[in-house]
Amino acid sequence: MSLVIEGLSKQYTKSIQALKHISLTVSDGESIGIVGESGSGKSTLARILLGLEPYKEGSVTYKGKLIVPKNRSSLRAYRKSVQMIFQDSTSTLNPKLPIWKSLLEPLDNYKEFSPSFLEQGLTKLEKAEKLLEIVGLDKEMFSRYPVELSGGQKQRVSIARAISLEPSLLVCDEPTASLDMTIQVQILQLLKELQRKTNMTILFISHDIRAVAYLCERMIVLKEGLMVDEFKMADIYHSDRHPYTKALIKAASID
Ligand SMILES: Nc1ncnc2c1ncn2[C@@H]1O[C@H](COP(=O)(O)OP(=O)(O)O)[C@@H](O)[C@H]1O
Ligand SMILES: [Mg+2]
Repeated sequence: MSLVIEGLSKQYTKSIQALKHISLTVSDGESIGIVGESGSGKSTLARILLGLEPYKEGSVTYKGKLIVPKNRSSLRAYRKSVQMIFQDSTSTLNPKLPIWKSLLEPLDNYKEFSPSFLEQGLTKLEKAEKLLEIVGLDKEMFSRYPVELSGGQKQRVSIARAISLEPSLLVCDEPTASLDMTIQVQILQLLKELQRKTNMTILFISHDIRAVAYLCERMIVLKEGLMVDEFKMADIYHSDRHPYTKALIKAASID
């Protein structure tokens, strides 16, 4: 039991309750998808998991430790093992830094840490090159600036940054939503391959049930802050599926 969410509710204002009594357990190495239409509470859940958003009701524990929002010292260790990829990598990458510097930022923040997939004694540039290689980017990219990269390339850089600390949990909030279909598929393939290699837990958030069905072993469905369905991917077409899940499947024409 890696990540345990119990009775989590989030109220922004009197009239906006973004999450309603969410309970969910995610095992180590599992890939779990969270699906729901815009406004269903997905990003709120992601931010709470990262310790970025306060909440009053319920609890979130990771590997037995309670995640206390906005508590710097308790979050530091957690932030290393839990990384996040956002929809728009433009906001994650500093436009003034060449790619190689952005790539090495997380490792620079944890100087005592050396990822197992990098040999000892590499120079900074060699580390950046190796990270680019892992996410399938040509090494000539490393002196470029974010503005000189396509959306898919920037997302690969964000993924490289996130995995450089060898997180045990990777939270992806609509990481492919702004990309063309073929690029989306490539990014999903990359995530799948990285997950297989590293055995990290992936929590993949999307409004696109097809993307989740491709990547994840299990899916939960959020509707207006409520978790209305939860199932293993093999049971996606089971008659027990919630009507809302069935509607999502039908709309995506994968039925
Ligand atoms: N900072 C905020 N203040 C007030 N309401 C918010 C805030 N962030 C999100 N909301 C509201 O909470 C609900 C869930 O939003 P969000 O978690 O972003 O959903 P999703 O990511 O599924 O689109 C929506 O009704 C949204 O308008
Ligand atoms: Mg969102």
